[in-house]
Amino acid sequence: MSINAPRGTQDILPGTSEKWQFVEQQLTDLCRRYHYKEIRTPIFEHTELFQRGVGDSTDIVQKEMYTFEDRGGRSVTLRPEGTASVVRSFVQNKIYGLPNQPTKYFYIGPMFRYERPQQGRQRQFVQFGIEALGSDDPAVDAEVLALAMSSYEELGLKSLKLVLNSLGDQESREAHRKALVNHFAPYRDELCADCQVRLDQNPLRVLDCKKDREHPAMETAPSILEYLNEYSKDYFEKVKSFLDVMGIDYVIDPNLVRGLDYYNHTAFEIMSEAEGFGAITTLSGGGRYTGLVQEVGGPETSGIGFAMSIERLLMALEAEGVELPLDEGLDCYMVALGEEAEKAAVRLTYELRKAGVQVDKDYLGKKMKAQFKAADRLGAKYVLVLGDRELEDNVINVKDMTSGEQKEISLEEVVNYMKDQLTGGE
Ligand code: HAM
Repeated sequence: MSINAPRGTQDILPGTSEKWQFVEQQLTDLCRRYHYKEIRTPIFEHTELFQRGVGDSTDIVQKEMYTFEDRGGRSVTLRPEGTASVVRSFVQNKIYGLPNQPTKYFYIGPMFRYERPQQGRQRQFVQFGIEALGSDDPAVDAEVLALAMSSYEELGLKSLKLVLNSLGDQESREAHRKALVNHFAPYRDELCADCQVRLDQNPLRVLDCKKDREHPAMETAPSILEYLNEYSKDYFEKVKSFLDVMGIDYVIDPNLVRGLDYYNHTAFEIMSEAEGFGAITTLSGGGRYTGLVQEVGGPETSGIGFAMSIERLLMALEAEGVELPLDEGLDCYMVALGEEAEKAAVRLTYELRKAGVQVDKDYLGKKMKAQFKAADRLGAKYVLVLGDRELEDNVINVKDMTSGEQKEISLEEVVNYMKDQLTGGE
C-alpha cells in the first residue's frame, strides 16, 4: 500500500527548507525593526470564531473550511487565516487593557482552506502575517503597508504592484450597498445563484464574482469611492499622504474587494507583475477591520494587518530569478578508518560540534576513498582524516578543500584550530 500526502499539501524537503528558513528569518528581522512581536496561536479553534453569525458570505467561511467534530462533540475548525485567532487571543488575554497600545503582532504558521489546488493555491499553506490592534491612526495603516512592501523588496523582488482601495466606514458602506442593490436589481435573474444570495447578504461581494465578471453591469457598478463620507475620505487621504512621504507607489482600484468580510477603510493587495508568475498574481492582502474585536467579545477596537503565503513569496522569487544567499555546504567531514580511529573520530566529532563546528562523518562503514567522495558530494569545506598513522602520532590531517592545502594538527589543538579556521580567527 502506498500513501501519498493529501491533495493540496506538500513536503518541504532539504534543498527547499533552507529557503523557508532564510525568508522566515528575514521576515522576523523585518518585524523586529518595525517592533512587531511574535504571537503563536492554536492551529484549530472553535468553529464559531470563524463563523461569526449568519452574515458571512465569503467563500472562505462558507465553502472552504476544514471543520469537524472532535471526540467531545464540539465543532472545531482548522484555521483558514490568522486574523480571527489573533483577535480572539487579544480579547481572551485582555491585551487591550495593557499600556503601550497599539499591540503589534506577527505570526508565521500553517493555514487550511479546502480550495481547488493549483499553482500558488494549496489546501495547507503557510502565512506570514502581522496585526496592529488598538489604534485607528492612518499612520498605522501606512506602517503596515510599508512593512508589507518591504517584506518583498528586501528579499530582492522588483516586479510588485501595490493596489489600494478604501471600503469606507459603516455609513459609507451602507450608502454604497444601497447603490449596488439598486444597480444590480434589474439584472438579478442574469446573475449566478451565488450572486443572487450575495445581493441580499453582502452586495459588495458581487464585484468579486468570478462567474459574473463579464456581465456588462459590472463595469458600470457604482464605485465605493463615490460613497465615502467625509471621515472616510479624509482617512483615505491621510493614508495616501503617508505613503507619499515614504515614496511608496500604489495604484487605486475601487473594485478591490477582499475575500474576507471584516474590512473597513483601507484594503489592499500586493500583486506580482513578474512574467511567468502564474495565473494567480496576488502575493498578499490585508486591510483595516473595525468590528472584529467587538464581534469576538472585546471592546470597540480597531485593527489592521496583512498576510502573505510563503509559498507565493517563493514562487515570486523564482519567477524573478532571485537567488537567496544560502549556505548549503558542510563545514567539516570526518574521515576515519580502523576501529581505534573510529572511536577517536566519534569523540572528536562530538567535541567539534559542542564547540560550534558543523561536522558530519561516515556511518556506512565505507572505505577511505568512498568517504572522501562523500565529503566531496556534501561540499565539505574541510576534510579531517584520521588513520592509524595519525592516531599513532596523536595528530589529525586537515585538508582545506578550497585551497587544497593540508596540515597536520595535534588532536589536542584541532578543535580550536577548526574554530579559528571557520570563523576567520575571530
Ligand atoms: P487572504 O487574502 O485570504 O487574507 O490571504 C492572504 C494571503 O494568503 C494571500 O494573498 C495569499 O498569499 C495567501 N493564501 C491564501 N489562500 C492561499 C492558498 N490556498 N494557497 C496559498 N496561499 C494562499 C487573509 O488571510 C487575512 N487574514 C489577511 C489579513 C490580516 N487581513 C488583516 N490582517
